[in-house]
Amino acid sequence: MKRRTWILGSAGVITTAFAKADQTMIQEMGIDFKWGVANAAFQVEGAANEGGRSMTIWDDFTKNSSNIKDGSNAQVATDFYHKYTEDVKLASSLGFKQFRFSISWARLMQPGMKELNTEGVAFYHNLIETIINEGMQPWVTLYHWDLPSELQKFGGWSNRKIIDYFEIYVENCVQLFGSNVKKWFIANEPAAFVSLGYLSGYHAPGKKSPFGFLRAVHYVLLSVAAACRKIKSHQPDAMVGMAYSCSPVEGAEIKDFLAAKRIDVLLNRLFVEPHLGLGYPFEDLPALKRLEQYIEPGDMDSIKCTFDFVGIQYYFRVVVKKSRLIPFFGGREIPASKRGVIMNSMGREIYPKGLLDCLKRFHEYGFKDLVVSENGVCFRDELVDGKVNDEKRIGFFKNHLEVLRSAKQQGIPVSGYFVWSLTDNFEWSEGFSERFGLVYVDYSTQKRILKDSAKWWQSALKGG
Ligand code: NOJ
Repeated sequence: MKRRTWILGSAGVITTAFAKADQTMIQEMGIDFKWGVANAAFQVEGAANEGGRSMTIWDDFTKNSSNIKDGSNAQVATDFYHKYTEDVKLASSLGFKQFRFSISWARLMQPGMKELNTEGVAFYHNLIETIINEGMQPWVTLYHWDLPSELQKFGGWSNRKIIDYFEIYVENCVQLFGSNVKKWFIANEPAAFVSLGYLSGYHAPGKKSPFGFLRAVHYVLLSVAAACRKIKSHQPDAMVGMAYSCSPVEGAEIKDFLAAKRIDVLLNRLFVEPHLGLGYPFEDLPALKRLEQYIEPGDMDSIKCTFDFVGIQYYFRVVVKKSRLIPFFGGREIPASKRGVIMNSMGREIYPKGLLDCLKRFHEYGFKDLVVSENGVCFRDELVDGKVNDEKRIGFFKNHLEVLRSAKQQGIPVSGYFVWSLTDNFEWSEGFSERFGLVYVDYSTQKRILKDSAKWWQSALKGG
């Protein structure tokens, strides 16, 4: 296989010349382009037993420390529940004008999931107000993987009952916050939370059931469509979208093409096409056909919905080799480490051009407004003499922003870009071992320290 290389930027020291070039790149995206940061409730909030919050599938999953690489849990996380004011101010001091966060279902609602938890309501009201007062626009993710344990008791997303519960929750969110929140992501990366949670068991709730997985696929899609209608019925001026993970999938050789196509269905198509009225991509992933038994009359109509925008979350490319040993997909991923490519600390390929491939693809589906709702990179950052030199991360952003600019120049309607993530945080099954933040968190003191990449963004957005 051909070794692919690209040059990492080297802006460890931010000279005026660098700042100027980077500022120009940012300015070229246009005055209305939206620059933001993102995080998610379970990964940052902590305060697991405070404010009337009930347990989630991730609290349960992390109780078994062997599920998490470093044996950690997110009971405290980055203590965003108490430190949100500091974090929101930090984001705005860096020059970002958009702030994406998620609402924790288990914090907003009381344990039965039918009544509101007033302390949770107050927390999100305050958070939204702080974001707005800091001159930023709130973007709310309604579901970022932290299903209340209460709902997992009956199977969570793999039980049709979840559709009604999700509707109740979403309706409450819109009624409570709709006057201040105009941008809604209904759910974050369904391909990830459904396949890792219900098929491979690598994420909460840790299930490894092909049939549970198929049911979850169908019920998540129906829930999203129902939520989309619900939001629009209460808030006609709302902009409603989804946050989709996207990875270009390639076969290592010609003979691997069909396996790549099957994996591509799971990673990039399954959670989009039914909403567009294209049905399920059964032809390209025949094992999916077993899902037909769960489709009730009328479902394929009610699964259709129209989004106002779509979020693309881009991290890496996937290269596939066919393998008869792998059920369902008949193919496996070739790890980046075996392909001699540049990687992040999770062993994922860093491949900026993939961002363009993903944007093009969603544009071809006909979506008229795209935002990059997550893009970022993990490295094993170290705090040395009170500083974090993460020039590789700066290089990562420069390379991806160049690709973003070229997407825009090619006429792809991309209107925003969110860095994942504002601060280091709990990286799911990797625990705290992976750091994605612009801001370093010293977990023993909860002190926040700007990494060089944060300073780079600040000078690029605000002028250095
Ligand atoms: C996507 C997920 O939305 C987010 O929660 C996660 O931390 C990042 N990817 C990095 O893996």
